Amino acid sequence: MTTERTQVGIVGAGPAGLLLSHLLALRGVDSVLVENRSRAYCEARQRAGLLEDGTVKLLRATGLGARLDREGLEHGGIYLQFAGERHHLDFLGLTGGRAVTIYAQTEIVKDLIEARTAAGAALHFEVTGTEVADLDTDRPVLRYTDAGGHRHQVVCDAIAGCDGFHGACRPAMPDGLLQVVERSYPFGWLGILAEVPPSTDELIYCRHPNGFALHSMRSPQVSRLYLQVPADEDIDEWPDDRIWAELSTRFAVPGWELKQGPVTEKSVTPMRSFVAAPMRAGRLFLAGDAAHIVPPTGAKGLNLAVADVTVLADALTELARGRGTAAADAYSDACLERVWRASHFSWWMTTMLHVAGDAMDEQLMQSQLRYVTTSRAAATSLAENYVGYPPLKSHFI
Ligand code: PHB
Repeated sequence: MTTERTQVGIVGAGPAGLLLSHLLALRGVDSVLVENRSRAYCEARQRAGLLEDGTVKLLRATGLGARLDREGLEHGGIYLQFAGERHHLDFLGLTGGRAVTIYAQTEIVKDLIEARTAAGAALHFEVTGTEVADLDTDRPVLRYTDAGGHRHQVVCDAIAGCDGFHGACRPAMPDGLLQVVERSYPFGWLGILAEVPPSTDELIYCRHPNGFALHSMRSPQVSRLYLQVPADEDIDEWPDDRIWAELSTRFAVPGWELKQGPVTEKSVTPMRSFVAAPMRAGRLFLAGDAAHIVPPTGAKGLNLAVADVTVLADALTELARGRGTAAADAYSDACLERVWRASHFSWWMTTMLHVAGDAMDEQLMQSQLRYVTTSRAAATSLAENYVGYPPLKSHFI
């Protein structure tokens, strides 16, 4: 076994882990990042693709904006559709000029891996046997076996668990410490990527008696569409023709047509709300999906991960420079405030737009949608949450 030394050990090469290593490097803090998947897998994994304005500002301010500015699609609002009518919400007008940007998570991961690799960072893919230990000391240890079969031990000042919901870090927290609050929903999303120009200029969130549908996009040539289906739905029940027919039914409004094209990818994702607190035990800090999951309606997952590591980078910089633990001590509470705001918003958007309950639910949700599309106060509340609340603050922006 080889013993090495770094300041921050990072587990996971998703957006949280990669961005954390980037932010730390900009502040002169070393890290070693390990990931059990291959680089190709990390760069291909399809996730959401909607960035809050604070996320975009942070990426730009930290040198990650070049391709995002060329290829990202800025959206100043969304459409909400129900009872066969489509309504526009103007976020720019409602929030004093804040917008969101369509830029896929996989593209951010590619940009980050490229930037970190160019900077000579220690990124280790396809590792096995990842373990974190000595978390209650000020020299926690990260152990892993590299792709060549060699065992390593990395002595750190702190370890960041950015390894997702199924990762090894959350289970390494001391027994009895974590309070877990969770809910699963009786439906999931069947998502497709299709090689066809979007049939809309901005996203359409649609409530239909058959269930929710969402028209999103990845580029001027590629559409991303979702259908509410039962949580345990078998994807084989959904040949492409059936998907397009159902999308056309749910999105139908007079004088508008859904363009169809080759489906290049399809999958069913279950939906849950999950929060594990505190997000820190000793020198182990959880960030992103390792600590919390939101249902995808409103696309908060990636933005929450970015917000977590923005706070964490500051806290770990202070720790690594020997400037005390005040920021580290404040980390969990600071993140959880935003996590719960986003959890509420995602739950609210999900329940408002999905069909699951009885006739009473149907009327309540339609009333809520009518309120949001007719009252400026209600629309403003949706808009400020959608573009990101509270607005992201950091050392960099
Ligand atoms: C996506 O483009 O994947 C997306 C967009 C908005 C959402 C969820 C997912 O609310």
